[in-house]
Amino acid sequence: DIPTKVYFGKEELCHLGEELAKYGNKVFFIYSGDYIKTNGIYDLVAAECQKHALSFVEFDRVMPNPRHSDVQSGIDLCRNEGCNVILVVGGGSAIDSAKAIASGVLIDAPIWDVILGKYEVKDSLPIVTISTISATGSEMNMGAVISNLETHDKQSLRKPSQKPKATFLNPEYTYTVGKYQTACGVVDMICHTIETYFSDDSPMYMLDTVMEGLIRTAFKYGPIAYNDPTNYEARANLMWVSPWAINDFIRYDKSKQWTMHPIEHEISAYYDITHGLGLAILMPRYLRHLNDEISLKRFKQLGVYALDIDRNLSLEDAKEAVIKKIENLCYKELCLQSSLSELGINDEYFEEMASKLAKDDGYFTTGYRRLSKNDIVDILKDCL
Ligand code: NZQ
Ligand code: ZN
Repeated sequence: DIPTKVYFGKEELCHLGEELAKYGNKVFFIYSGDYIKTNGIYDLVAAECQKHALSFVEFDRVMPNPRHSDVQSGIDLCRNEGCNVILVVGGGSAIDSAKAIASGVLIDAPIWDVILGKYEVKDSLPIVTISTISATGSEMNMGAVISNLETHDKQSLRKPSQKPKATFLNPEYTYTVGKYQTACGVVDMICHTIETYFSDDSPMYMLDTVMEGLIRTAFKYGPIAYNDPTNYEARANLMWVSPWAINDFIRYDKSKQWTMHPIEHEISAYYDITHGLGLAILMPRYLRHLNDEISLKRFKQLGVYALDIDRNLSLEDAKEAVIKKIENLCYKELCLQSSLSELGINDEYFEEMASKLAKDDGYFTTGYRRLSKNDIVDILKDCL
């Protein structure tokens, strides 16, 4: 079920007021950076609200890797002000905060306990989003990822009621995203697709071709947007890959896709690094770890259909060629750092991180392949 109504293009914000008015009359307006005041979004939002007789309350306590404590203050303010619809402008951090606030407002419990699953989320306030960065796909899915840096936890709250009702995607709004964040976003959407592509239950050829197209598109337009930030074609293509890489369409009935994400979330929970950078370092190391025949065949299909590798390569060589393409994109074309050591991270917490993941008798069992605690530590050490 993908219920989010999408307005894609340069002039669509004129529909914002009518969308918000469908769901409420007092808007809780969440945003993160100052850029929304210089690129015109803030003024357009205010004008649309005025035109449709909507009042709004602002909340801007959002930071990358959003904190549960900020989310809690958003919930308190939203509840005290009696807002009945949420508008969020920003990236995954702002949208994830909005989702947790939307659910938390309707439950009388601390939000961190809600995220830990101690309370049931039955409903959420309606959410409308204006996305300003192409990366997480949060603009069209049900997930919210919130951090508790005191306990080194980064957890997901995934609820169907958190799916945005409407989303506005204007590629021009991403022109001001800096090179580094552009690069991290591209890696994130590629990783979402690869995590799903390698999930081998419920095969569906048609969806394979969609995933290969998403990856091909991100590989093509990522470096163009990186080098030419106001290239509309590149920004538009990335803006459309972002939600389709993770809005449940490609997932179909696959159940075992998330492996790199839980591991990366451990790294950012301990070290507060950018999600896409963590994935750029982790992805090649994790993929090298896959050596079974099913995985090798998958590498070859991905390489041939998405990345133009030579179809005559052996399975092992095809795997290496795919990983080299990913490394080249991440570290050469998008100039991201290539190891955790470069970020000042050492192996001090690797055992602890791995223990948190290997909860099932010492194994991590919800991902693509079962990993032991030691496997996870080895993969993390490879990242140094
Ligand atoms: O801090 P501000 O001023 O807001 O600037 C942001 C931030 O520094 C900046 N930015 C965004 N749009 C901009 C812009 N700067 C200039 N012009 C614009 N138009 O970019 C920086 C990063 O923003 P953020 O929202 O943190 O990035 P992203 O969208 O990558 O979100 C990352 C968060 O989402 C989670 C990540 O773990 C991380 O916490 N994820 C959420 C998912 C989901 N909801 O489904 C899935 C993902 O796998 C991911 O885990
Ligand atoms: Zn991600």
